[in-house]
Amino acid sequence: MLPNKRAIVTGGTRGIGRAIVKELASKSCCGVLFSDVAFIYNSCDECAEELQQEIHNPATKILAFKADATSLDQAEATVQEAIEKLGGVDILINNAGITRDNLLLRMTEKDFDDVINANLKSVFNYTKAVIKHMIKQRYGRIVNIASVVGIIGNPGQANYAASKAGVIGFTKSMARELASRNITVNAVAPGYIETDMTSKLSDEQRKKLTDMIPMGRMGKPEDIAKVVGFLCSPEADYITGQVIAVDGGMTM
Ligand SMILES: NC(=O)c1ccc[n+]([C@@H]2O[C@H](COP(=O)([O-])OP(=O)(O)OC[C@H]3O[C@@H](n4cnc5c(N)ncnc54)[C@H](O)[C@@H]3O)[C@@H](O)[C@H]2O)c1
Repeated sequence: MLPNKRAIVTGGTRGIGRAIVKELASKSCCGVLFSDVAFIYNSCDECAEELQQEIHNPATKILAFKADATSLDQAEATVQEAIEKLGGVDILINNAGITRDNLLLRMTEKDFDDVINANLKSVFNYTKAVIKHMIKQRYGRIVNIASVVGIIGNPGQANYAASKAGVIGFTKSMARELASRNITVNAVAPGYIETDMTSKLSDEQRKKLTDMIPMGRMGKPEDIAKVVGFLCSPEADYITGQVIAVDGGMTM
């Protein structure tokens, strides 16, 4: 049997991140029997404990680290500790993200900076912290969670769209930098997915959105997690630098 893969997932306690942690830790993901997963969260200790208990399995290690993904120092310390406890790192999923929506006329400098730091700088932080280990072992799978908004834009989300377009550019540059070391770097661009992030939408906004989706409904966190699991599996070994939209046909 192949050894367990070791994965780090940022923003793991809720929504899409939570589904990704469960997918990677689940039976026979990634062509191995189980993956060990360290997830990063910045709030809700009870949610982290609950998730660890929910997927408790004697064959896998599920570790929780409380850290702010916007800090490079914290990212480096967390990755170091995760590597010591898991014995290495094979997979990084950059999922942590926030929204601070407003039309640009009303958007504050803080709204802009907070979103860039949480959504884009965090991707730099964790990628920088893991790649020296992945380069040394000549293996790595990195998946960044972007958004369709980073591809097509959205009024009221200039900060968010800029951060996610930045994630896409970062993904392609890293894919080119790291391909010869057998490290693949891809992005998944979700459309509208039912999570806390989209729960604030009014019925009217929801109706407007679903009218834009050819499949006529929002997606589920598991729809994203399955594609992330595939990109970390041996079946995807020759895929790098791609942005895979999982959006019910919105951006076709
Ligand atoms: N829900 C959607 O429709 C949708 C669509 C496109 C892209 N996305 C992206 O998917 C990812 C997950 O979104 P979600 O809908 O599950 O959102 P969510 O708000 O439910 O979860 C986001 C997670 O990121 C964590 N996080 C945020 N800032 C952090 C920080 N500084 N340090 C550590 N953790 C931090 C939160 O604690 C939370 O666990 C985000 O990057 C988001 O932009 C979501």
